[in-house]
Amino acid sequence: MIYKANIRPAWIVLLLMLLCLLAFTMIKTSDTSSPVNIKIQTEQETTSRVDHTKFKNAAENEKCFKCHGQSKYTYENPESQKTVTKRMFSELVMDRDVFYVSNHREFKCTDCHSEDYESFPHAGNLRMEAIATCIDCHGGDEKYAKFEFEKIDTAFLASVHSEKHNEDFTCWMCHDAHTYKINARSNENLKETITYDNMICLNCHGDFKNYQLLTDKVKPNILKKHEWLPNQASHFTNVRCIECHAKNEDTLVVAHHVVSKKQAVRKCESCHSQNSILYASLYKYQVSEKIQKEGIIVGLLTGESTSIGPDKSNTLNIISLAIFGLTILVIIIHAVLRIKK
Ligand code: HEC
Ligand code: HEC
Ligand code: HEC
Ligand code: HEC
Ligand code: HEC
Ligand code: HEC
Ligand code: HEC
Repeated sequence: MIYKANIRPAWIVLLLMLLCLLAFTMIKTSDTSSPVNIKIQTEQETTSRVDHTKFKNAAENEKCFKCHGQSKYTYENPESQKTVTKRMFSELVMDRDVFYVSNHREFKCTDCHSEDYESFPHAGNLRMEAIATCIDCHGGDEKYAKFEFEKIDTAFLASVHSEKHNEDFTCWMCHDAHTYKINARSNENLKETITYDNMICLNCHGDFKNYQLLTDKVKPNILKKHEWLPNQASHFTNVRCIECHAKNEDTLVVAHHVVSKKQAVRKCESCHSQNSILYASLYKYQVSEKIQKEGIIVGLLTGESTSIGPDKSNTLNIISLAIFGLTILVIIIHAVLRIKK
């Protein structure tokens, strides 16, 4: 009897200590909280160095990049015959690495811009030149049917931006001609897509310089305007602005109908529930890809898509904590009993 009673608690303690360790690791791994400050990655950070020379127009484009590719440019002054070095306006500097991973990386600069830009100083009237729109090139083209350019165009024309600013607000405002690349559809790193897409909005809504080009309105402080949303930093890095601000449409991978602020999603349950709107927006492509590949809705049951809402990780946390607490309790009882003996 006595012999047994001495051995058993020792084993129990060992077992419980193991459980305790397990519980700890579970708490560690289920803790996915993001850092408080929203670190916005610049595109340079997310793209690795690319070999430009493999692009057929690279040499041609260097004619422009030699001035527009860095913060300084030099030219031969025809009058004094001297080489002059000047500082390039920061908004006219573009990054080769970013251009050569963008959707239009195979282009010549002069496919979109007038060839007259080859001479410097550039003629003043070039500023007035009209540049082709997305629809000019992509509209009605079978090759791009899957993107549904026409449907995007309709959605965009109904958006607050287009309604308030008409032709001043073009597709190019969000799709920077020299940097835009597809993410939502092809990037498997969801966080990167969220950052990329949110940066598009923050380019104006976080930057007064760009915002005031369109309006005399005082730029609202968007951090203040979202104070009602708890864990703001976490939300801004885990969902996109368009989740709450754009009306979703069945077949479009990316919603383009940005609605007025009054219509923005505010209800927590819209996302934090079983039938979260995120399945039809942010997780849409991930999910449908998986359905196609595996024939079942794995996307909903595994991986990132299940981590919406505190649900799953919270139960995990509670279980781990319970096990942990119980372990401590048993150890204490055991110790007390021992001391008593
Ligand atoms: C010798 C340097 C130099 C070269 C080469 C050069 N640019 Fe420029 N570019 C400038 C400078 C400086 C400005 C801003 C002042 C101005 O407009 O002249 C500018 C302005 C521009 C603008 C903006 C005009 C506006 O204000 O709206 C565009 C577009 C442009 N360049 C395109 C090109 C293209 C395309 C090429 C190549 C075919 C090219 N540049 C080659 C120096 C250069
Ligand atoms: C797919 C079409 C397209 C290509 C290719 C393109 N651009 Fe542009 N570029 C545009 C558009 C559109 C704008 C005007 C953006 C606006 O006004 O909002 C622009 C604007 C500019 C500006 C003015 C500053 C700015 O960013 O608004 C410069 C400088 C410029 N481009 C240089 C170049 C150079 C150099 C290349 C080649 C490396 C190039 N572009 C290739 C479409 C293009
Ligand atoms: C001057 C014509 C032209 C304009 C303007 C233009 N594109 Fe393109 N775009 C093309 C061509 C051509 C390609 C294919 C490039 C290639 O295959 O390398 C392309 C590629 C793309 C792709 C990638 C397609 C894929 O399957 O990888 C997307 C997305 C895209 N464009 C969107 C846009 C958007 C959005 C706009 C307007 C903001 C726009 N384009 C403006 C001609 C244009
Ligand atoms: C208010 C900002 C905004 C405006 C304006 C805008 N877009 Fe977009 N667009 C986005 C964002 C954000 C994405 C998502 C980019 C990504 O992650 O691939 C996107 C994606 C796209 C895509 C790729 C969708 C896919 O299926 O992969 C196309 C094509 C496109 N836009 C075309 C257009 C056209 C055409 C216009 C003008 C009629 C336009 N966009 C205007 C923000 C905008
Ligand atoms: C969880 C949903 C949600 C997310 C995510 C969200 N918003 Fe909002 N946003 C709202 C709601 C709801 C309002 C209306 C607030 C009000 O009127 O008091 C709003 C207001 C705004 C306004 C109007 C401010 C004003 O009063 O003029 C802007 C601009 C805006 N948001 C931009 C953004 C941008 C940019 C992002 C992404 C970085 C974003 N929002 C992310 C829900 C959201
Ligand atoms: C090129 C600059 C620019 C970009 C990019 C941009 N916006 Fe805006 N947005 C504006 C301006 C300017 C206004 C103010 C319109 C007005 O009232 O005159 C505005 C207004 C808004 C409003 C408030 C509408 C209201 O009811 O008052 C919302 C919401 C909004 N934007 C969301 C977004 C979202 C989401 C994105 C990214 C998908 C985005 N914006 C990208 C410039 C921009
Ligand atoms: C547009 C969708 C959306 C809306 C609306 C929304 N949330 Fe969230 N929320 C998310 C996502 C996605 C996460 C990240 C989930 C994760 O990390 O597993 C999140 C995370 C959270 C977290 C955990 C934060 C952390 O860092 O662990 C809390 C708490 C939360 N939301 C509360 C709310 C409340 C309260 C509301 C309503 C006022 C709300 N959310 C509205 C999508 C949303």
